[in-house]
Amino acid sequence: MTLEAQDLCRCLRGRDLLRGISLTVAPGEVLGLIGPNGSGKSTLLRLLVGLVRPDRGRILLDGQPMAAMPQRQIAKQIALVAQSAETSDRISVRDAVALGRTPWLDALSPWSAQDDAHVAHALRRVDLGHLADRDWSTLSGGERQRAHIARALAQDPRILLLDEPTNHLDIRHQLTILDLVASLGVSVVIALHDLNQAMRCDRLAVLQDGRLQALGPPADVLDPALLQRVFGVRASALVDAQDGSRVMRFLPS
Ligand SMILES: Nc1ncnc2c1ncn2[C@@H]1O[C@H](COP(=O)(O)OP(=O)(O)O)[C@@H](O)[C@H]1O
Ligand SMILES: [Mg+2]
Repeated sequence: MTLEAQDLCRCLRGRDLLRGISLTVAPGEVLGLIGPNGSGKSTLLRLLVGLVRPDRGRILLDGQPMAAMPQRQIAKQIALVAQSAETSDRISVRDAVALGRTPWLDALSPWSAQDDAHVAHALRRVDLGHLADRDWSTLSGGERQRAHIARALAQDPRILLLDEPTNHLDIRHQLTILDLVASLGVSVVIALHDLNQAMRCDRLAVLQDGRLQALGPPADVLDPALLQRVFGVRASALVDAQDGSRVMRFLPS
């Protein structure tokens, strides 16, 4: 499924939060979204999932305008793991993840064993199978984050939007989630702060003050001039002696 944004603008009280954003996410592509705090990453993800309407421009799903689609139809195609998602406290982890099945249920297709299987599979994928019966409120920040990702996976979307999904995770689970994202085979738009992690994306979109500053393969986009201009840091590339891979190091400028 192709997700296309055309000239998206979003303003609030006369201020542009996003301006002139055009980009296309190809089927199966992992697009990283990077930019300083307040550059518009979360706003863009909320627009792309249909939670917020653009003031100008439009979003197309396989060429069809999203504005004309019922929310339920959008939810079958696109899931968002928000930056600070909340879930009511008196609920088990399994039931919280089961909420992801909502767009697929109606009077003619009630909850079935297949939905149970989706939920169990999603929990296993984020390494939370053992906590399925726990109360949501007892989870740690990182476990909650993984449960939110499981809920989005249970939604079985063709496009997954993730807003800084590794923020609360320990390093092993950060790597697990990034591996999982890369292996899903669905289109992914992922907002990330760690630029070395962003290097793993197929392409990167760089936001600054609500505008798209660059869009392309990580090695092209993350050049020293852009890192200086957008993030205000000096960057140098180091080579890992073990496998020859490049790692970036950052210094204040
Ligand atoms: N509901 C809102 N009311 C006022 N300002 C907002 C609102 N949502 C976002 N903003 C502002 O829009 C800008 C972009 O925010 P955001 O998209 O959250 O950036 P990022 O995710 O890149 O940190 C910020 O300056 C933020 O303060
Ligand atoms: Mg944000």
